[in-house]
Amino acid sequence: MAVVLGLNAVFHDPAAALVVDGVTVAAAEEERFSRRKHGKSPVPFSTWELPEHALRYCLDAAGVGVDDLDAVGYSYDPALATVPSTRLQDDAWEGMRTLYAERAARFLETLLPGVDATRVRHVPHHVAHAASAWGHAPFDSCAVMVLDGRGERGSYLAGVVRDHRLEVLARQDLPHSLGLRYEELTAHLGYRRSSDEYKVMAMASYGRPTHLEAFRRLLRTTGDGGFVTEPVDWSAFAPVGHGDGAIDQEHVDLASSVQTRLEEVLLELAGWLHDRTGERCLALAGGVALNCVANSRIYAEGPFEDVWVQPAAGDAGTAVGAALHLAAELGDTPVPPPTPALGPEWSDAEIESILRAAAVPFERPADIADAAAEVLAADGIVAWFQGRSEFGPRALGHRSLLAHPGHPRNLERLNDVKGREQFRPVAPMVQLEAAKDAFEGGPIPSPNMLFTHRVRNGWAERIPAVVHVDGTARVQTVDPATEPLVHRMLGAFRARTGLPVVVNTSLNTAGRPMVDHPRDALECFASAPIDALAIGPFLLRRGAMFTGAAR
Ligand SMILES: [Fe+2]
Repeated sequence: MAVVLGLNAVFHDPAAALVVDGVTVAAAEEERFSRRKHGKSPVPFSTWELPEHALRYCLDAAGVGVDDLDAVGYSYDPALATVPSTRLQDDAWEGMRTLYAERAARFLETLLPGVDATRVRHVPHHVAHAASAWGHAPFDSCAVMVLDGRGERGSYLAGVVRDHRLEVLARQDLPHSLGLRYEELTAHLGYRRSSDEYKVMAMASYGRPTHLEAFRRLLRTTGDGGFVTEPVDWSAFAPVGHGDGAIDQEHVDLASSVQTRLEEVLLELAGWLHDRTGERCLALAGGVALNCVANSRIYAEGPFEDVWVQPAAGDAGTAVGAALHLAAELGDTPVPPPTPALGPEWSDAEIESILRAAAVPFERPADIADAAAEVLAADGIVAWFQGRSEFGPRALGHRSLLAHPGHPRNLERLNDVKGREQFRPVAPMVQLEAAKDAFEGGPIPSPNMLFTHRVRNGWAERIPAVVHVDGTARVQTVDPATEPLVHRMLGAFRARTGLPVVVNTSLNTAGRPMVDHPRDALECFASAPIDALAIGPFLLRRGAMFTGAAR
């Protein structure tokens, strides 16, 4: 019976999580409070910055004080770092990262006066990623893979979890890193490394793997659970890209080649791990596990019957994992949460007070789900802000932009609202009971949007806005047991249109973190061509906003 705070701060995506008696009661990313995407730059000098707003939120949400904390987990162990803190100018100041990580307890004392610094424990980065996966996966025992860019000295971990204990079976040390190679490709194509990798994945589907043989030589498994990633001269394959959203053949072919080889390598690693463990189920975490195309191939072609991916697979998830790892060491059994909605929420009264303070016109319809569906059925775009925010980079019906899937131009409309590249797909959310009618080839249920599915024959014409260029869609299935309000909204839309599907993308505008405060929702609504904002039980309409009617 322990109260454990988990912190991620070392690279980027700073985040905090609180685990009480094995239950993850709160988790949030700092970017949602600070409004700076990814929280901070992943340079050694920023390592000292802790997720101060996120950790305060976690403690307040649970009503936990500093004195109640049995342990604090920090998801990086400087004792494992390749460059010690005494070598501050070597290797691009990497020693500074080690030094700041060593001092994390002291930095925490400045934020949480009275915290017992002796209770702050360093948890190895990939052990924390692993715990975020096995601790939240709905499996009693499983194999686990951490697919990352880098930790202290490694980039990959594979193991097995039995009786809530991780046994590590393989590690891959730097400089070999699938994640870092993919980041290099992202930068070469002109996009932001360690941030825009999902754009490269989307681009890959426009290309052909024309350089696959070369990448089979450059990225290869070693037969012992590890792999080699040779240095890549990216310019030998294609010139540096501009990151301007253009689809040109040499760049999409390069993206396709690396993406395809990544998938092959992951399948080989999964095969090795299955042979070693004989486990039925696989849990995944690490930034590369956000690659839903690769996840789908592991699911469809790999040896495991079931695959579960931590929705916060990136570094933010290590806050949860560090806490779960220590909670398990203290004797608690991690309890998988029903959904990743572990972030802040506002009461109806709080939302109403903010709306009144902003002096905006709003209504309180009999059923917000039905009112939103009515706007959607009339081809309006709805900003949907409901309940606790999702922990992880995907909007899953709590901080979402919604639209009608039947009109192909809605992809362009949403990408315009968000000011982003037109090659970026948007995803369908679908009532669970109707998912198999429309989609195939991926796991169903698929509640966290971490796999792609093929759109069934006859459905591509009905829901063209959500069908990617390769005939797939990144599906979120909505279970009425865990998401009753979203499911009801989908049902009300289906009653009007015959479609159990709505377009879903995250509620934010270009380059900004997801909206996570009613005031941010109002700013987003006012500054983008969104037709209605459904926030708590209240509905704001664009027309009324600017005529002052319907107050
Ligand atoms: Fe990581």
